[in-house]
Amino acid sequence: MNATEPPRFAIRTFGCQMNVHDTEKMANLLLHAGYAWAESAEDAELLIINTCSIRDKAEQRLYSDLGSLRDWKTASPDRVLAVAGCVAQQQGDHILERFNHVDFVVGTHNLRWVASMAEAAGEGCRSSRVDETPSQDRFDLPERHSGFTSATPGRSFVTVMEGCDMFCTFCIVPMTRGREISREAARILEEVSALATTGVREVTLLGQTVNAYGRHDVRRGHTAQRGTLAFAELLARMDAIPGIQRIRYTSPHPSFYDDALIRAHAELESLCPHVHLPLQSGSDRILGAMRRRYRAGDFLRLVDQLREARADLAITTDLIVGFPGETDADFRETLRVVEQAGFVDGFSFKYSPRPGTQATQSDLPEVSEKEAQARLETLQEQLRSQTLSYHHSRVGEWTEVLVEAPSRRGGGQWMGRDPHHRVVNFELPAGSLGAGQMQSVQVVAATPHSLIGEASPENGVFEPDPLAVSGVTPPSPHAAGSGNLRLVTID
Ligand code: 5AD
Ligand code: SF4
Repeated sequence: MNATEPPRFAIRTFGCQMNVHDTEKMANLLLHAGYAWAESAEDAELLIINTCSIRDKAEQRLYSDLGSLRDWKTASPDRVLAVAGCVAQQQGDHILERFNHVDFVVGTHNLRWVASMAEAAGEGCRSSRVDETPSQDRFDLPERHSGFTSATPGRSFVTVMEGCDMFCTFCIVPMTRGREISREAARILEEVSALATTGVREVTLLGQTVNAYGRHDVRRGHTAQRGTLAFAELLARMDAIPGIQRIRYTSPHPSFYDDALIRAHAELESLCPHVHLPLQSGSDRILGAMRRRYRAGDFLRLVDQLREARADLAITTDLIVGFPGETDADFRETLRVVEQAGFVDGFSFKYSPRPGTQATQSDLPEVSEKEAQARLETLQEQLRSQTLSYHHSRVGEWTEVLVEAPSRRGGGQWMGRDPHHRVVNFELPAGSLGAGQMQSVQVVAATPHSLIGEASPENGVFEPDPLAVSGVTPPSPHAAGSGNLRLVTID
């Protein structure tokens, strides 16, 4: 590194959208502290591994990665290696003890310290910060730096709450993300307004149980002091912000839907017709053992109510197979509910025992690996078939796509997502702006993974580009650094 050049950083991200957004927050903090994006880890003086521990495989991946990064570290003594995210939060100092080439460990509540910890590490001080407080300090982060390049131009995540107090018996998140805490509504709305002025048209509100937003304040009679609002009211205020065309939220818990939130799906123009609603199991016995706090019938009634509010609502889900004690009959219940709910897609996982969770202490019989694998394949086959039928049902429709990046299909095609959160691949008409623009597209074909669209210049949405108007260079998906924000998935 030249003495006059800023130090460069790279971040590897594992896990959910919350982790992707934490990576964005750390990147933004580092830019504000004078760091610059690296093209790759090889090119970086600071490398952060943002970890996930939701399933054992994800955690093991960190340990093998850390092993292979010994060479990265020894290649240049000034390099700084850090571990962030859920494993960092849980393991803290143990990571420093076990891996002497790791310089600092920053937990999920302490992202705001990332730059000062990196600086201290550069001076030889190894440290870990994993403390948790119920204060709003963790949300107090700077606006997007002018050098921040989003991997998803036109779209942004916005944190509204963090943590989880639900303690589902299979889930490690309450241990890694701590207690539920909601961010002040005024700060959230300020952030969204600021994003809108930089060309963001779509916001995804994030929280582990996002629709539980503010519930503790409401329950304790603190609403005024803590400054939260009912979740539906927060959505309504966001809907009124000029420039915001799409609002999404993820992930809701079925237990926290109230009439106002269901009605919001009928009334708010910018609230997208898609909900990711985790079911986990269709068997009441297993739902009870998971402590999900609803029965299959409650879930299906909620699905009906949501569809009554918004007939074209696309619902996706998360499912776990092979939870201890799951019989073949339980699994068949899951298949039945998946069909009845009419999910258009879903993520499905084999149960993975996580240390410290209640399910690991139960005396329910384990499901064999072979049986769990067979159930997973059956479930995935059913989900694939539901996705394909849904995609076929969309052929002929016009839809609006927020253009995201060149398509993996190649051939000059682009990809983006429609309001239902489906991936659409299509060719952009000549003269289009590319990533970050809205484009009208007609669905002409369906594949198991995406819709194929045709954009017509006559029907295109060629709005003035707010980025061009404000004189800011539109972020390009190829811009240096955006590759470092790409999600590494493990499953
Ligand atoms: N084993 C398997 N899947 C899990 N999930 C959460 N914990 C586990 C576990 N221990 C799944 C759930 C959740 C999603 C994010 O990950 O389906 O909704
Ligand atoms: Fe985990 Fe349950 Fe909380 Fe979701 S609601 S994060 S599954 S404990």
